Amino acid sequence: MCGIIGYTGNRPAAPILIEGLKRLEYRGYDSAGIAVEEGDRIQSVCRTGKIAELERSLPQFHLTGSCGIGHTRWATHGVPSEANAHPHLSCDGSIAIVHNGIIENHAELRRILEERGHTFLSQTDSEVIVHLIEDAYSMLAFEASEDDDLADAEGKRTPHTSTSEMLAGEPSLLAQAVSMACGFLIGSWAICAMVASEPGKIVCARKESPLVIGRAATGVHVASDVSAISDAVSEVAVLADGQIAELDARMFNVFSVAGDVMTRVNPETMKLDRRADVADRGQYADFMIKEIHEQPRVIRDTLEGRFDGGELTISELALTHEELNLIDRVCIIACGTSYHAALVAKNLIEGWARIPCEVEVASEFRYRDPIVTPSTLVVAVSQSGETADTLAAIRDARIKGAKVFGITNVLGSPVARESDGVIYTKANKEVAVASTKSFTGQLVSLTLLAMLLAQSKGRLKQAQMRMLFSELSNTAAQAEEILKDADDVHRAALACKDARSAMFIGRGMGAAVAEEGALKLKEVSYLHAEAYPAGEMKHGPIALIEPGFPLIAVATESPTYEKVLSNIQEAKTRGAMVVAIATEGDERIREHADHVIHIPKVRDAFSPITAIIPLQLLARDIALLRGCNIDQPRNLAKSVTVE
Ligand code: F6R
Repeated sequence: MCGIIGYTGNRPAAPILIEGLKRLEYRGYDSAGIAVEEGDRIQSVCRTGKIAELERSLPQFHLTGSCGIGHTRWATHGVPSEANAHPHLSCDGSIAIVHNGIIENHAELRRILEERGHTFLSQTDSEVIVHLIEDAYSMLAFEASEDDDLADAEGKRTPHTSTSEMLAGEPSLLAQAVSMACGFLIGSWAICAMVASEPGKIVCARKESPLVIGRAATGVHVASDVSAISDAVSEVAVLADGQIAELDARMFNVFSVAGDVMTRVNPETMKLDRRADVADRGQYADFMIKEIHEQPRVIRDTLEGRFDGGELTISELALTHEELNLIDRVCIIACGTSYHAALVAKNLIEGWARIPCEVEVASEFRYRDPIVTPSTLVVAVSQSGETADTLAAIRDARIKGAKVFGITNVLGSPVARESDGVIYTKANKEVAVASTKSFTGQLVSLTLLAMLLAQSKGRLKQAQMRMLFSELSNTAAQAEEILKDADDVHRAALACKDARSAMFIGRGMGAAVAEEGALKLKEVSYLHAEAYPAGEMKHGPIALIEPGFPLIAVATESPTYEKVLSNIQEAKTRGAMVVAIATEGDERIREHADHVIHIPKVRDAFSPITAIIPLQLLARDIALLRGCNIDQPRNLAKSVTVE
């Protein structure tokens, strides 16, 4: 979703901003813009469509300034258009802002500001921010000039009382104005602001929407996402909720705010691991296929060092054996693909540890007043670590006294920071909007968690743990095996490509895999797909089956294999075109399926890790055949930072 970039230093800002915006592209957006200080004014350029479009239009503006802010917008309030793209400017054009998040009381603020004479140029919720800052700034500037006049009259004026030369470490007028403006806002925000009368300065504010700031030899950078920050930065300050930061070309100060008092504070910092951040698709045609092929590595990296001396350890969980033992319920909250990984985990946690486990989409959990007690372990799963609903659910659960454990792919992300403990999924940066390798990282991490809970409850003995861990490790080689030959997948894709709709079915683990397979297909190929537990077919969905209708069945070896087979037969007799994911050696299924994609034999508990791979490949293949954009499907964003 939306992304923010800012730079102030001794280099031309525009190329640095464009480079940062390109690094934010993977998040999904529909317009982009930058604002750069040019002498005593601010020049803003916005374009709809791709960053390349914005970049192409820049030469005519001859931007040379060394302080600027930029933004990629994913439309929420108002259509994608140049007028709605950020940066937004104040009425007199002297102040520019970019904003991530949602201003919930924008309509009321807009009405008040319009009554006060402000003219709005966009339909966005964000534009109220710049007008609020404009009002606050002129009021503060007026007060400051009155003070200066008084000091002049009394002959007491000292350099630090001047509006332009604030004491080092004291907030500037712009910082105070941003702080005042934030006081009127309800919602979530990451804001960067510039004012022409304070050259070289950027002021940032945050509430529930991330911002990081880093210093390099040539200037100071700010971004909503560490991956957008210049490579010259090796450590970033992570702005906390409610803090305001002020950047100039050489340094930055962070303030906490209490009422109208701003106190300088030392921010939390984080070293950047650039290896995890490499976004290079190498020999691959797109990031999605590259990331699908990375899955064996993700499995190995996520498992590395976990099973030592006959015992499984997840020290990041930050729970003692006694605390683990007290857990009497697990509640997993997540969205989208992460939710599907959680569905698999429910089976494992209940099956191995015999602890009741609920799985719920975060957007429902957060508004439902769920039963969560101090003995509930809440697990929040999020690739990006910044999904707004998942974060809200975490906060809710912690208020209710639960321990929250995060599983995320992004170092230092809000989910990581707001949870009591965190496992990183070791997928490294995932660029394609459709999650693939991070799903695998989540599955493996959740499997480890289920094993740990079973170990601590004494339900799995050392020998069983050893055997399970060894089989889990083998899935890396099995995934490699699947990836070697995608011919069967391609034949199935050709058979499905012209369909208008498809159905995915499975039972147990296969039901969760079917859900994820259907989501992948919808996302990248825009082909309507539904997933059902196979046993539900007769209760309604079977009405959809007609000759040629694609039915994709997860029919790997499992205690319910025979049941799935009879569900396939029921569909087949009604003319369905069946694609089956089956276990190597299963030739019987060929009698009922038009296309069989075999995968290596694996324990049912681990089958989602391997069975999902052909479905990821199938979705991508169908999308390619239908001429879709693989890495950036329409309407989707990589990080869903608004609810
Ligand atoms: C699907 C996909 C989304 C995300 C969902 C949650 O391919 O990527 O469904 O899984 O938006 O995102 P995270 O895991 O970042 O919380």
